[in-house]
Amino acid sequence: MNRIKFSILFLFIGFSAFAQTSAEVPEAAASAGWSLSITEILVIVALIFAALSLWVTIILYRTFKLIYEEQKNPKPYHIAEKVQKLEYDEWKKQQKKTLSVWDKLLSLKPIEQEKDLEIPHSYDGIKELNNPIPAWFNILFYGTLIFAAGYLYYYHVGGYGQRQDDEYATEMAKADEEKRKFLAKSATSVDENTVKVDESQIAVGKGLFDANCVACHGEHGEGLVGPNLTDEYWLHGGSIKDIFKSIKYGIPEKGMVSWEKNMSSANISAVANYILSLQGTKPANAKAPQGVKYEPEQEATAEPDPKN
Ligand code: HEC
Repeated sequence: MNRIKFSILFLFIGFSAFAQTSAEVPEAAASAGWSLSITEILVIVALIFAALSLWVTIILYRTFKLIYEEQKNPKPYHIAEKVQKLEYDEWKKQQKKTLSVWDKLLSLKPIEQEKDLEIPHSYDGIKELNNPIPAWFNILFYGTLIFAAGYLYYYHVGGYGQRQDDEYATEMAKADEEKRKFLAKSATSVDENTVKVDESQIAVGKGLFDANCVACHGEHGEGLVGPNLTDEYWLHGGSIKDIFKSIKYGIPEKGMVSWEKNMSSANISAVANYILSLQGTKPANAKAPQGVKYEPEQEATAEPDPKN
């Protein structure tokens, strides 16, 4: 016993020594994030080792105790009693009767109890047994009655719920409303082929530009990370359609975000119109022109071609 006490004490002294060294370097551990410092690993190893030694010690202690007690006071081996052989019928009688799930569900009684179930009357020598209906069946049955009463009241007497045909009408009305909204939306939606120069959109576009684009294109479109949007030089074309496309799809490989998912097409059209309105504003600190000069006349002459 003393030996165990000593070994446990020894382990605790060792452990507290480790704990002290780990307390001295808390910053190093904290800065390392999840990775463990050597001291922490040592502490964990020591803890595991301590737990293992404790376990081994306890097992050894129990073993020695058993051997010691056995030597002091030897116990003879247990001699098994002779097993008596039974006839099958006798054995069967000794077995306890258990009802199967099926029997329980149908509240069936074993045939031996038939005498208790007999109703004390007989007609022409025919006797009756009292086999009551199982409780679950009655609950189900009366449950349907109660449900029916509630249903009748809710739908037919009180008129709280909608009946099938009314429900159908409501659903159809809802669908019609959704369809109308969808059509209205798609009618106003624009893409790079239908976008138009429209000065009424400039104010809305300015708000959108100030909120989303100034970080890269400057407060007045003079250019920062992104190019100057106020000059006549464009990297990706200066028509309203080109600008719409640049904004919608972005130029991801050059750091210009695609706005398709974060802006409605109407908003993209508005901000494109705002950018066009910046042409020739010559803001301070304007970035040097990039790309090629855009000549609106080119398009004007080029456009009628397909119609001819
Ligand atoms: C993360 C920075 C960043 C943001 C935010 C940003 N852009 Fe850009 N944009 C760029 C860069 C970089 C380019 C140049 C791409 C290139 O070199 O091809 C560019 C190019 C463009 C062009 C094409 C210019 C040309 O010369 O053809 C347009 C138009 C444009 N941006 C509009 C916008 C609009 C409108 C917004 C806000 C909805 C916006 N950008 C937000 C970085 C950005």
